[in-house]
Amino acid sequence: MKKVILGLIGLGLLGGAVNTMASPEQDRLDTIKYFTTKFPNIKVEDYVYGALAFDQDSKDQYEAIMEFPPFIEDIEKGKKMWETPFKTGKTYADCLPNGGKNIAGSYPYFDDKAGKVVTLNDAINACRVSNGEQALKIDDMKTMGVLNAYMRTLSDGMLTNIKVEGPAALAAYEDGKKTFYSRKGQLNFACATCHVQNAGVRLRSELISPVLGQSTHWPVFRGGDNLFTLHRRYEGCVKSVRGIPPKQGDVSWNNLEYFHSYVSNGLPMKASVFRK
Ligand code: HEC
Repeated sequence: MKKVILGLIGLGLLGGAVNTMASPEQDRLDTIKYFTTKFPNIKVEDYVYGALAFDQDSKDQYEAIMEFPPFIEDIEKGKKMWETPFKTGKTYADCLPNGGKNIAGSYPYFDDKAGKVVTLNDAINACRVSNGEQALKIDDMKTMGVLNAYMRTLSDGMLTNIKVEGPAALAAYEDGKKTFYSRKGQLNFACATCHVQNAGVRLRSELISPVLGQSTHWPVFRGGDNLFTLHRRYEGCVKSVRGIPPKQGDVSWNNLEYFHSYVSNGLPMKASVFRK
């Protein structure tokens, strides 16, 4: 492992897809251009498959697993939570826009009044609290995790549509972008070192996925039944370079998710997929 990582350090670390001063839309276009130039055979819409886009065998295996997903039970548990009314008699569908359908692609969004990024998990918790229930722990996969897994399926097919409007929203986006491009951990890696410059490269037994499309298919079930939300995955990646991650749901993670999701604008959402 150490050898492979050290090997990666030598591979083109300078430069990258994105200019530090560019607008979000310019960042997105530059990212698409970077990958379509580097991998002319991969269609932009196939980036939702992450690393599978680089490996037809794994993609075939994925399609077979997705026909009878081993994680159906967790989705069912989430569905039950979703449908169970609060003490007030209201449900999640009553307090989220559009009954909670086809909305996941516009989260996270920047709430000007609150002056911060609001993730879908935050919206779920706000709904609970306004109905006199306790907020769920963001990192509890048995409650927030399964609820998230079900509710996001209600947005399958929606195109990612993140908006960055106004100076405060832009500052949150820039903060997320900075996190993505800053080197961390004892190994001094940035997210971009792996998911931009080394996307498509094999690290141990895994092909590294590109940032483009990475936000579209959460949560994932790793190995078939191990539920990972997006922040849990961020955390795992930071630990893998021996960094100390912030808590799931931390402002810096929310801002990272804001930047990270904007880059995938226009790509379709598909919740709860299998990953290795
Ligand atoms: C040392 C390289 C490395 C670094 C640094 C790294 N990752 Fe990862 N990341 C991986 C590998 C390997 C995987 C598993 C294979 C893959 O990309 O799907 C992964 C997976 C992911 C996935 C899941 C992709 C999917 O489709 O399931 C996301 C999202 C992600 N990383 C985001 C990040 C973010 C955000 C950061 C910075 C906080 C980061 N990573 C830092 C190596 C890295």
